[in-house]
Amino acid sequence: MALEEPSLPRPLTDGDRAEIAATVARLSIEQKASLTAGRDMWSTMPVAEAGIPGWRMSDGPNGVRGTRLGPAGVRALCMPCGAALAATWNGPLVQAVGAALGREARARGARVLLGPTVNIQRSPLNGRTFECFSEDPWLAGQMAVAYVRGVQGEGVVTTVKHFAGNEAEFERNSINSLIDERSLRELYLVPFEMAVKEGGTLGIMTAYNRLNGRFCADHRWLLTDILRGEWGFQGITVSDWWALADSVAAAEAGLDIEMPGPARAFGPALATAVADGRVAEAAVDAVATRLLEVMTRIEARGDATDPPERPFDSPADAALARRAAAEAMVLIRNEGELLPLSSGALRRVALIGPNAGRTRIMGGGSAMLRAAHLSTVREVLGAVLAGHGIAMDHAEGCAPTDDFALLEASELRTGEGAPGLDVAFFAGDEAGGAPIVVHRADLSELTFMGEPAEGVPAEGFSVRASGWFVPSISGVHRFRFVSNGAARLAIGGTRCASLVWDAADAARVMRTVDCETLLEAGVPVPLLIEFRGESVLNFCHVALKMLPPPAPDSIDGAVALAAAADVAVVVVGTGPTIESEGFDRTAYHLPGRQDELVRRVAAANPRTVVIVNSGSPVAMPWLEAVPAVLQIWFGGQEMAAVLADVLLGVEEPGGRMPITVPLRIEHSPAFGNFPGGAGEVRYGEGVLVGYRWYETRHLPVAVPFGHGRGYTRFAWTARLSVGRVLAGDAVCVVVEVTNIGSRAGSDVVQVYVAAPHGPLTRAAKELRGFAKLHLGPGESRTVEIELRARAFSYWHPGDDESAAIQERLHATPFAADMKTVHRARGWMIEPGAHVVHVGRSSADIIVSLPLMIDAA
Ligand code: BGC
Repeated sequence: MALEEPSLPRPLTDGDRAEIAATVARLSIEQKASLTAGRDMWSTMPVAEAGIPGWRMSDGPNGVRGTRLGPAGVRALCMPCGAALAATWNGPLVQAVGAALGREARARGARVLLGPTVNIQRSPLNGRTFECFSEDPWLAGQMAVAYVRGVQGEGVVTTVKHFAGNEAEFERNSINSLIDERSLRELYLVPFEMAVKEGGTLGIMTAYNRLNGRFCADHRWLLTDILRGEWGFQGITVSDWWALADSVAAAEAGLDIEMPGPARAFGPALATAVADGRVAEAAVDAVATRLLEVMTRIEARGDATDPPERPFDSPADAALARRAAAEAMVLIRNEGELLPLSSGALRRVALIGPNAGRTRIMGGGSAMLRAAHLSTVREVLGAVLAGHGIAMDHAEGCAPTDDFALLEASELRTGEGAPGLDVAFFAGDEAGGAPIVVHRADLSELTFMGEPAEGVPAEGFSVRASGWFVPSISGVHRFRFVSNGAARLAIGGTRCASLVWDAADAARVMRTVDCETLLEAGVPVPLLIEFRGESVLNFCHVALKMLPPPAPDSIDGAVALAAAADVAVVVVGTGPTIESEGFDRTAYHLPGRQDELVRRVAAANPRTVVIVNSGSPVAMPWLEAVPAVLQIWFGGQEMAAVLADVLLGVEEPGGRMPITVPLRIEHSPAFGNFPGGAGEVRYGEGVLVGYRWYETRHLPVAVPFGHGRGYTRFAWTARLSVGRVLAGDAVCVVVEVTNIGSRAGSDVVQVYVAAPHGPLTRAAKELRGFAKLHLGPGESRTVEIELRARAFSYWHPGDDESAAIQERLHATPFAADMKTVHRARGWMIEPGAHVVHVGRSSADIIVSLPLMIDAA
């Protein structure tokens, strides 16, 4: 299960170093400073005279979007989201996914991929929990190492993000994350540390937020002391978009590149700071040197600036997306082995739920892209079942939310009757004459950062999105029009909303206007959205959301279908407007009436399978009432096809939870300290994040960390290589795994360490190693999982003031003795009786092995 050693990035030779030094020496201070900033939204500045190209960057992390958001984007491979990748617990697979993304990046002309996201899943409610790998730093770190090696092996730099303490979206550009050093060292910094030391990442993206009072882009302790000093990072640090404001503080902290361009605090401003003597020229030389070193190591020095953006469309990589989706799906519950369904015994299936007919394959925000392949569970499962001669009835049951929602392709028609809207792009403010280009949008939402469409100037453009909305119900429809620019809306030929119609006056803050119209079911009504903007400096957004009139109870119809079917499959979940960058989730439970739908369908049909299509945990108050539950995440472009295969047993669901599903959100570790207030968020739970919290506090959970079932069974025998060691020595956990079922399948061996009581609070146990095995029926394999010193260590923050305090307390009877013994700052191993637990989840321990650690 070892990761591959790719040939890139290659080491630097003496010749490279000499050439880079000579190049930097030839550059003027203006040229060197220009390398520290973006040229535009997605590229760095070239210095053509010195043969230094500009390098393109692209989001990230579940695909490679390229430079254009929205309808003009190149169709791109959409992999499962970060949480789903971690649910595979399969490093080599994630490395292969990374390599596919590296190839995609090259096709988009990008040399820097803005990912992976390795912040810790501190709360299910963080808007970006779907994008992050895990609540456990070791699992998140292993996934980061695999992803980084895969991407960088293709000659593309990863910028592991967001460094650090960015675990919520609330006030994300300014919030002060208050995290004690021990929690940082043991949890929040770990995936970054592993990505640097083991993955060899050549890029790190700083977070927007402040960490213990300092903006991360200006944080010398993070960027210089820890990252370069302690971890030996050799690459470049990039600011999150527009997160840089202070030239001197950031330069002194060790930040390398300001993004996006045009430059504000770096670039020419940095050259001025050097001229004024506020920043040393050597600091700018160091950035230029590091940038050239990184680009030499991935062999990008000879690149052309602004290469074309191509689709890649590789069937092999699409097959990989399919495998990743299958290995990510977590079979949470399977009472009476309801799954896999036996096609021979089925005549009629009821497919129910708001997400069955919608494509919910990725979360919202910068992770969004135009997926190369879109399909719904309804289309795919219907076709597969029909192939087996099985009938499928479909009912939505309830709306995906009871709030305003974007209009989707299925509700929209272009002028030619295709699903979606026509989006015409023009240069300048007047959307008149022939458009430069027309694209089709799948949603009633347009976002632009940089060039909005090919040949359309980011400095000033206008857009007309037109088509028809087809209501499915009669009555008063409420519309919400949102934009941060000059925008107006007409419904049925009547102007009904306008948000400033002069681009120069647009305030760049998000504004909203509501309107309502009486519409008739099935009668199409024309829609026209106009927008004027400039996306060279900013993020442009315009969206139309709708709240339909209350529908007659549609759950009744779904229940009737379920009662008449052999099996009911209910696809519930969230989507990119609920789980997104930019805001946190407001509720833990499923939106709208989905919980009620699940309960009533399960009551009507004892053979009900619930599919949870969300990127982070949702409350499952009906869990015990449903025989089979499958978490499919935002599973990427192949999700629907994989689900059909998993339901029918063609594929096994191979995932294990990378995050605990709490029974109630009030039980979760961050509750009370999430998302924060008064400008700060206090990580009050300290080191007890995720299962560390629930277990140490004996709180019941809905689904434990690490849990997931397969379609076969395994037997284990486990032992330690030695039962007694000196602190600092490594130990091996040796596990023999045998597939005792009748079909091939996978198992995940999870190794947790429980430490003896010591001077600081320790979690009940912590994940320190794992291995995933794929075995045929009857097949056995032995794995060895090594536990090194760090697996037994905790971080002691030390007590620098201990001596002075003892001195002060000297005159107080007994007080000096009561002061805790001083410990030095650093990693410590507590000597004494440890237990190594080997299990299938944090709550399902198969073997517990004693290990005595003696002081070294
Ligand atoms: C996000 C980053 C992203 C960047 C560029 C920021 O808003 O936080 O994760 O890479 O935008 O899109």
